[in-house]
Amino acid sequence: MTNVNMTVNGKAVSRDVPDETLLSEFLRENLRLTGTHVGCDTSQCGACVVHVSGKAVKSCSTLAVSLDGADVTTIEGLADGDLHPMQKAFTEHHGLQCGFCTPGMIMTSVDMVHRYNAAGKVLTSDAIRNELDGNICRCTGYHNIVRAVEDAASKMEAKGGS
Ligand code: FES
Ligand code: FES
Repeated sequence: MTNVNMTVNGKAVSRDVPDETLLSEFLRENLRLTGTHVGCDTSQCGACVVHVSGKAVKSCSTLAVSLDGADVTTIEGLADGDLHPMQKAFTEHHGLQCGFCTPGMIMTSVDMVHRYNAAGKVLTSDAIRNELDGNICRCTGYHNIVRAVEDAASKMEAKGGS
């Protein structure tokens, strides 16, 4: 067992966990933050994506003990009172059906927009499709997801990138 300390969604957390505990397990089973989904456990589907220091990470292939002291944000911590622009855009553009892939899609997309805005690069629909290569949706199809990301990107840019 190893004692792991992290900040998760702005709150300090501390748990003793077996060394092999994955970040996805730590979040779902130790902290009961079940918005982070596990679809494959083999780093293929992207349902488990969270942010570590603002960067998208597949939590099913990251050991919790490797993140002692880290700053982690899950889908539960993305909204700031009101829904995040990316969450609103997925709703408005029907970017989900069953919702299983949606937390990972949203966390990946927020990181994507931040990176493109920081680099002053235009986020085209082709770029969005390439960036979502590691996120699989089995039911919505990708057109509405891409539209949602484009819409949220314009709104996040207008708000100064957040
Ligand atoms: S559960 Fe992590 S990539 Fe599928
Ligand atoms: S909304 Fe069902 S898998 Fe994407």
